[in-house]
Amino acid sequence: MKQLNMVINALDKRSHINPEIYGHFSEHLGRCIYKGIYVGEDSPIPNTDGIRNDIIQAFRDIKMPVLRWPGGCFADEYHWKDGIGEKSLRKKMVNTHWGGVTEDNSFGTHEFFNLCEQIGCEPYLAGNLGSGSVQELAEWIEYITLDSGSPMAELRKKNGREKPWKLKYLGIGNENWGCGGSMTPEYYANEYRRYQTYCRNFSGNKLYKIACGPNGDDYEWTDKLLSIVKDWHTSAISLHYYTVPKGDWIHKGSATDFTDDEYYSTISSTLHIEELIKKHSAIISKYSDNIKLIIDEWGCWYDVEPGTNPGFLYQQNTMRDAIATACNLNIFNAHSDVICMANLAQAVNVLQALILTEGDKLVKTPTYHIFGMFAQHQDSELIYSFAENFSVNGIPAVSQSASINPDGSITVTLANCTLDEDIEINSNIVGFSPKSAVATLLTGDVRDYNSFDNPDTVTPTELAISLSDNGFSVTLPKCSVASITLR
Ligand code: AHR
Repeated sequence: MKQLNMVINALDKRSHINPEIYGHFSEHLGRCIYKGIYVGEDSPIPNTDGIRNDIIQAFRDIKMPVLRWPGGCFADEYHWKDGIGEKSLRKKMVNTHWGGVTEDNSFGTHEFFNLCEQIGCEPYLAGNLGSGSVQELAEWIEYITLDSGSPMAELRKKNGREKPWKLKYLGIGNENWGCGGSMTPEYYANEYRRYQTYCRNFSGNKLYKIACGPNGDDYEWTDKLLSIVKDWHTSAISLHYYTVPKGDWIHKGSATDFTDDEYYSTISSTLHIEELIKKHSAIISKYSDNIKLIIDEWGCWYDVEPGTNPGFLYQQNTMRDAIATACNLNIFNAHSDVICMANLAQAVNVLQALILTEGDKLVKTPTYHIFGMFAQHQDSELIYSFAENFSVNGIPAVSQSASINPDGSITVTLANCTLDEDIEINSNIVGFSPKSAVATLLTGDVRDYNSFDNPDTVTPTELAISLSDNGFSVTLPKCSVASITLR
């Protein structure tokens, strides 16, 4: 067994870990909203206003801080007025991006804000810049946030919501370099300036406006966008990066049936996000000290499950995804000086989902459990940590981060990314003497997953930990993730 030393300095606070870094994404895609989160008021599945109670509870349990909606590519063909008012009268449309299915608009603005209220999270709207109009987006903001005295505020009241909602996060378009209009950065940047002008702050609401940033390593997009947008009422730009094994979008491979080589290439591909964060942040800093980075779509993308609609992007989720999640979240913590939000794609039944459903059954994926184990980092201060490391098949064996919580406790999260070596971690903590610890472990074979027949194959267990006056020791089994809270 390898033995590695780790140093943590509780006195060396680096940056605030915004809770929204642990955010999520829900799109009108496949069974994310319909037959997923939203089953309708008449469903035999226990629900509140049509929203599944078990899903709400699961989201609350991991302290979901923010939820992005309605897309994705869907956002740039979504017309919000089709999704308000009496449900039976709502206009139908075809969801051309995702499976060509009929969208009946029964889940719209009121239902989304109701969902966020039930979860207790911030809503994050992606506005339609691709196929909508400035007026349409301006009126959506008015409908949602203006107290009274305008046609939109009165329409909201007529539709049953007297008080305005609070809306902080507003994305102006989605992937406008691609499905959001195939725009050049120059064209989009000028459109952004125009659209955002009419997104007003009403009734004490303050919008945090997010410009569509780059696809992966498109540094030219970031540079050109910011050279035109600058600090032009922009709080953040978004970055989209999906992890695809071997970076091969044609042969992504199965979510559950993969070789060890594919595992290592997946983790290597996921770790590439750190280079993207550093390089895009360096470009941002040329133009502004204030603009932040939001990674509002990230996660692993594999072939759909055999026999399912290719347009629904439904995939299983294994310990490989758990390790990838831990690596990403540790990286986001480490760069929380520039990253103010990140949203995993997607919350239910789509891509690297937190939750899978089938009828009334619900499965929490290994990815879900990692979010639960890392939740303590939310709203904490990143503190200095360093672990000795070694390389296996081109990736570092250990991923780690540490934070100090408002109550004075310390959270340390670790992953052993190897498939064949247990690792003992011996830590030394400066400025903190642990008196007690709660340590949790998620481990299993890298191909293990939770199915509807066996929903608890991969589930958190207690991790043995020994404390000294100035540190702790734990053994991380191969292919495992640990979360340790020290008091
Ligand atoms: O998450 C699935 C899709 O991936 C989103 O709709 C789009 O923004 C991205 O290309």
